[in-house]
Amino acid sequence: MFDKTLKIERYIPDDKNTLAPNQILDIQNLRVLFKNKAGLVQAVRGIDLRVNRGEIIGLVGESGSGKSVSVKSIMGFNDGAILKADVLNLNSINILDIKKNEWPFLRGTRVGYIPQDPLSSLDPTKKIKHQIIDAIKITQKRKYHNAVFEINAYFDKRLSKKQISNVKYASESASERDEKLKQAKEDYKKAISKKAVYEKMYNVLSFIGIKNIERSIEAYPHEFSGGMRQRIVIAMTIVGEPDLIIADEPTTALDVTIQAKVIDLIKKLRDHYKIAIIFISHNISLVANLCDYIYIMYAGKIVEKGTVSDIFIDPKHPYTWALIGSIPDMKSSSELTSIIGTPPNMISPPKGDAFAARNVYARKIDFEKQPPMFQVSPTHYAATWLLHKDAPPFSIPKEIKGKLEIAKRSIAIKNKRGCKHE
Ligand SMILES: Nc1ncnc2c1ncn2[C@@H]1O[C@H](COP(=O)(O)OP(=O)(O)OP(=O)(O)O)[C@@H](O)[C@H]1O
Ligand SMILES: [Mg+2]
Repeated sequence: MFDKTLKIERYIPDDKNTLAPNQILDIQNLRVLFKNKAGLVQAVRGIDLRVNRGEIIGLVGESGSGKSVSVKSIMGFNDGAILKADVLNLNSINILDIKKNEWPFLRGTRVGYIPQDPLSSLDPTKKIKHQIIDAIKITQKRKYHNAVFEINAYFDKRLSKKQISNVKYASESASERDEKLKQAKEDYKKAISKKAVYEKMYNVLSFIGIKNIERSIEAYPHEFSGGMRQRIVIAMTIVGEPDLIIADEPTTALDVTIQAKVIDLIKKLRDHYKIAIIFISHNISLVANLCDYIYIMYAGKIVEKGTVSDIFIDPKHPYTWALIGSIPDMKSSSELTSIIGTPPNMISPPKGDAFAARNVYARKIDFEKQPPMFQVSPTHYAATWLLHKDAPPFSIPKEIKGKLEIAKRSIAIKNKRGCKHE
């Protein structure tokens, strides 16, 4: 018998699949709370976010707005958090049902993570080659275990055809099931053979632009520059071919020219592997050069979302104006300027628009009532009372218009591929 004993209890893919055909991630009304001595921190307060295959999504906001906490929920990294959502669906898997011991099977194979600091995911004592080989072997083993689980679970009628990730795991007779288990084991053995592992390692390293591969794989992380280390981490993230990659401020620690190279690599990654990517940044101009669709986050909420053109041609939320206002002038410093004031305390967030206290355009209602998400166009939405039908007419402040012109010159604003988000 082939691994029928390997009955790992595992997440059950959601039968009530809410995903559209090309969709990888569907988040509806996600709330994340942390209990601490001072009270309940409302880190994420009901966000909706969707990602399609092969799409790069930007998640932008100041420090503490809830960007990392939101995406960590899709990877089971929010230890101790209270997680609630109407829908939290990653490629048909209901994340709310996943148990702690099941997470390792999804990380690297379904969802990959590129952190801000590459050193945190590289082992300083191990040669690059051993770290990449380990990443390949671990993800192949997880994929094999996932396959065995699905073959057995389909046969035991715990999963339907709709719930398994690949129809080839469906078998109608015991002998067919045994044949599939045998095949899965053979595929796994082949995938972890020295030849296959080295081939994969050379392929990904050449893809990410490592020149002298033979010499590079014998080196240790400290022998590489920050940019190269980040490339190696990206290589380790793609060996398991996940459906979704989360890049959490992956270029913040790098200088501007290296930043641009890593951004180009992320674009190439999407084009080549058709992976969906969530790119987190506090820098709206960086995201504009990379993403198909942008979500602006403030105090645990999405306050505006739209295509790059929507956000840079006609931004609606005063917080988006402030972020655009913080883009440095090309001639002066390259540092982002900070927005006046500080974000609210998330233990007792304001009852109205959380940005009101820092918003010079705020009116009485902004302090009193939470604005709903108003639709501006089929792709563009913003949660600001300025869009209410009874609001007095408004236009983008003059200084922001100037910044938008600068941004438009440096950013190739194109009408990106049609994003059908809502
Ligand atoms: N484990 C935790 N316990 C309590 N509060 C937390 C915890 N993790 C995050 N928070 C709080 O949740 C809020 C959002 O944090 P988060 O890390 O998501 O911010 P961010 O937008 O990623 O910021 P940055 O740009 O600095 O990375 C913050 O107020 C933070 O203090
Ligand atoms: Mg963060």
